[in-house]
Amino acid sequence: MTTPQTPAQHSTPVRPSGGHRTKTPVIAFLGTGRMGGPMAANLAHDGFELRVWNRTTSRTADLARQGVFVARSPAEAVEGAGIVISMMADGAATERAATGPDGFLARFPGLIWVQMATIGAGWSARLAVMAARQGVTFVDAPVSGSEGPAQEGQLVILASGPDRVQDVLAPVFGALGRATLWLGPAGDGTKAKLVLNSWLVNLVEATAETLSFAGHLGLDPASIVELLRSTPLGSPYAVQKATTMLAGNFTPAFALKHALKDAELAVQAAHSSGTRLALTEALLPRWRQTALLHADNDLSAVYITA
Ligand SMILES: NC(=O)c1ccc[n+]([C@@H]2O[C@H](COP(=O)([O-])OP(=O)(O)OC[C@H]3O[C@@H](n4cnc5c(N)ncnc54)[C@H](OP(=O)(O)O)[C@@H]3O)[C@@H](O)[C@H]2O)c1
Repeated sequence: MTTPQTPAQHSTPVRPSGGHRTKTPVIAFLGTGRMGGPMAANLAHDGFELRVWNRTTSRTADLARQGVFVARSPAEAVEGAGIVISMMADGAATERAATGPDGFLARFPGLIWVQMATIGAGWSARLAVMAARQGVTFVDAPVSGSEGPAQEGQLVILASGPDRVQDVLAPVFGALGRATLWLGPAGDGTKAKLVLNSWLVNLVEATAETLSFAGHLGLDPASIVELLRSTPLGSPYAVQKATTMLAGNFTPAFALKHALKDAELAVQAAHSSGTRLALTEALLPRWRQTALLHADNDLSAVYITA
């Protein structure tokens, strides 16, 4: 899935850097939430010059303590940067950072914009068009892996966009993840992410339903987790979620509100492409109901209503 690499064609502001890098673009990072915070920290730790912005300033405090510049607006963050990474909740928040009153998009032609949040196929296409109009190179690169892999720099990056930026982004993605897959033109990364997260939500739903079913049959659900663990049927992710479900530990690694968003985005993308996701559609009503009380809990909270 890798593509031939050619040097970046556009001019990006650079800073001198030691070590193996000769020239490294300054990076603006927008959205330092559960994923964005540790991702930005890993970039800073790897020696990139970083400028961050987050709507809620308190969520940039750790980065500020590490000497990272905290901007008051997206435009201020992007000032002097060659690359901007967005990792906000959804498409609407991302568009506002780009084109709102303090947005960056119209001000910095030549910029590379790496969109890494899960915003869906429609939003990704819309932002790509807006970027192209402003002379900004749009890279659609959502990630697989949640808070732990983000902290450990072990994400898998589902990258898509023009070949010419692969070289300049390689060290950036190298600081964030253990693997980068270049999947095709911008938008293909988001499509792959929706396919993966449709699988993920169905796995979590099947796990919750399985534990509930076992309990209703009078079995100890914990023994079913051990059975799953000892056979090829239990994926490590399902076993991990089953364990947290039974412990009643819904501390968020991946918030239910975001998982629900992704399930809805997957269903929409399926409709637009002329097919249906019957399983994913079936879980939506109960997940929406559960999210009324547990939106900010981990998605494993769907066990409560299973
Ligand atoms: N957590 C995971 O396991 C995981 C894994 C892969 C991908 N993702 C995706 O990555 C993205 C971020 O997820 P997360 O877990 O980091 O979520 P999070 O902790 O809820 O952070 C969301 C970020 O978006 C910002 N934001 C939300 N609404 C905004 C608005 N209207 N205007 C400006 N900023 C806004 C938040 O700012 P404030 O701090 O001001 O609220 C925060 O920086 C989502 O698209 C999610 O689906 C998550």
